[in-house]
Amino acid sequence: MNVLIFGATGTAGGGVLRACLSSPAVEEVRAVTRRPIAITDGKLRTFVHGDYQDYVAVAEAFAGVDACLFCLGVSVTQVSEEGEYRAITHDFALAAAQTLRAHSPAAAFHYISGQGTSATSRFMWARVKAETERELIEQFGAVCWRPAAIDAEPSESAPLVYRALRPLFRLLRSFRSLYVSGGDLGRAMLQAAAEGMRGCVIENAQIRDIAERAPRP
Ligand SMILES: NC(=O)c1ccc[n+]([C@@H]2O[C@H](COP(=O)([O-])OP(=O)(O)OC[C@H]3O[C@@H](n4cnc5c(N)ncnc54)[C@H](OP(=O)(O)O)[C@@H]3O)[C@@H](O)[C@H]2O)c1
Repeated sequence: MNVLIFGATGTAGGGVLRACLSSPAVEEVRAVTRRPIAITDGKLRTFVHGDYQDYVAVAEAFAGVDACLFCLGVSVTQVSEEGEYRAITHDFALAAAQTLRAHSPAAAFHYISGQGTSATSRFMWARVKAETERELIEQFGAVCWRPAAIDAEPSESAPLVYRALRPLFRLLRSFRSLYVSGGDLGRAMLQAAAEGMRGCVIENAQIRDIAERAPRP
């Protein structure tokens, strides 16, 4: 399987990237990032790119792909206004899904949203993510992942509050609806791709169920 990852320099994406690199089912990983990745691996090809609404310059990364794992995103606390949050959360993902369809029409698009995503929420972030999920599912048959607390190596871009809270995440480990490791999230995404899942929303407990079906390297 050839996999294309967005957000590989992030907390969630870093965990997913490591799962891909250690999976014998994955032959090649392409990562589109805005800065180099610290990890080097014979299976990894990095495409440093600046414009996430126009992927023409990195079209090569989208060709011959079986699954795109879109882990790019931002906390609402890190943006100054709704327009910026919407561009990163919604526009970047839709543009990636459109480019994937053009270059790898049979590929699956997987999108990380998050627990609490809801079209009727009082929180702007949850409504924007719900709208993004709906459009990705309707237009591209995407699989939308709603992890709760992801226990993974914090990235340079992770909000400070995430770093501070991470040790507490482990206390939640036994609660299947509240905790998932970054490795299990990645293994679940690969397993879902291998099983041909399409057009659905996957909540945290189900992520852990799917990860348990995945082969361990
Ligand atoms: N962490 C969790 O516990 C958790 C739980 C549920 C859902 N989620 C969701 O998962 C997604 C990723 O979260 P995370 O915790 O991995 O965040 P993170 O550690 O801050 O990483 C974000 C990733 O997205 C990239 N990115 C952010 N803004 C960008 C922009 N304007 N242009 C290009 N790339 C950009 C970052 O690139 P740089 O490294 O270059 O900044 C990084 O690769 C978010 O949608 C988040 O809501 C996270």
